Amino acid sequence: MSIDQLESIAQAIVAPGKGIIAIDESHGTIKKRFDEVGIENSEENRRAYREMLLTAPGLSEHISGAILYDETIRQSTRQGQAFTEVMTEAGILPGIKVDLGAKPLAGFPGELVTEGLDGLRGRLAEYARLGAKFAKWRAVITIAEDTPSSTCIEANNHALGRYAALCQEAGLVPMVEPEVLLDGDHDIEVCYEVTEAVLRSLFASLYEQSIMLEGAILKASMVLPGKNCSQQASAEEVAEATIRCLKSAVPAVLPGIVFLSGGQSDEDATAHLNAINQMGPHPWPLSFSYGRAMQQAALKLWADDSEGQYEQAQKTVVTRARANGQAALGQWSGPSG
Ligand code: 13P
Repeated sequence: MSIDQLESIAQAIVAPGKGIIAIDESHGTIKKRFDEVGIENSEENRRAYREMLLTAPGLSEHISGAILYDETIRQSTRQGQAFTEVMTEAGILPGIKVDLGAKPLAGFPGELVTEGLDGLRGRLAEYARLGAKFAKWRAVITIAEDTPSSTCIEANNHALGRYAALCQEAGLVPMVEPEVLLDGDHDIEVCYEVTEAVLRSLFASLYEQSIMLEGAILKASMVLPGKNCSQQASAEEVAEATIRCLKSAVPAVLPGIVFLSGGQSDEDATAHLNAINQMGPHPWPLSFSYGRAMQQAALKLWADDSEGQYEQAQKTVVTRARANGQAALGQWSGPSG
């Protein structure tokens, strides 16, 4: 794998009007989602649900790639075709979540550090053999009275730098994700300050680890007031703060930035991305890598086994992809458009 290939994969991830569907929920997280719609968390149900999403007709029009979980990258359709093959035929890049989850940070109550570096070189080589083109690692930053600590920010960003270096060595594009959680009652300015500090420290760490930024993607959280903040923000305020923050901390050489949805409603996630892109042009393409905001409506339909709901679920995920694809161009015309 040459450096040029990493660069062209990174550019393909953020191709105009396209973004990512994240279907990389761990068994614990998918259980929560399945519980809400009364579906048993069995291996077959996880496989069948993800087959429904990945084979939705027309998905690739607005979806450049999908992030899979370790189990999913090894699974096949009911007809026996490997998911990675189905994706490659449709022009959807296979991605893989490679971190092993956020665990309590010793000595820092309420804070988390993401694990998974041990043995990562071997796992990345296997994922590359299975067809993965990019990988994702998520760090979690919690805003509360006394957090985040600089220890938590640096420990997580050190791991993100190490992970990114191993990805590029294995020929995979690293998608580096420092998620600042939406939980809390902090206002938008606090989120701005924390996100800016996290991103500046992240790029210092990527520099320290000699990451080739042209072959990497940032997966960022938007700058938003905490979920329980009494003063919520307009889409324009979110867009303005998010762009200001990214411009102050992210090098222009990066090929692109994708946002996570982080618990925003489907409509907010799309409206915010649209407002961000309406304020362009920006130094990078700004697109989406949504999990919940791509899937939640489709999951409800799929869980209902009455006639026609399977096709409805597939249409719904494609509709969400189209809306977010339009928002990635600043061309979304609203919920009824
Ligand atoms: P959400 O869009 O549901 O936040 O998930 C995206 C993701 O991949 C988090 O790591």
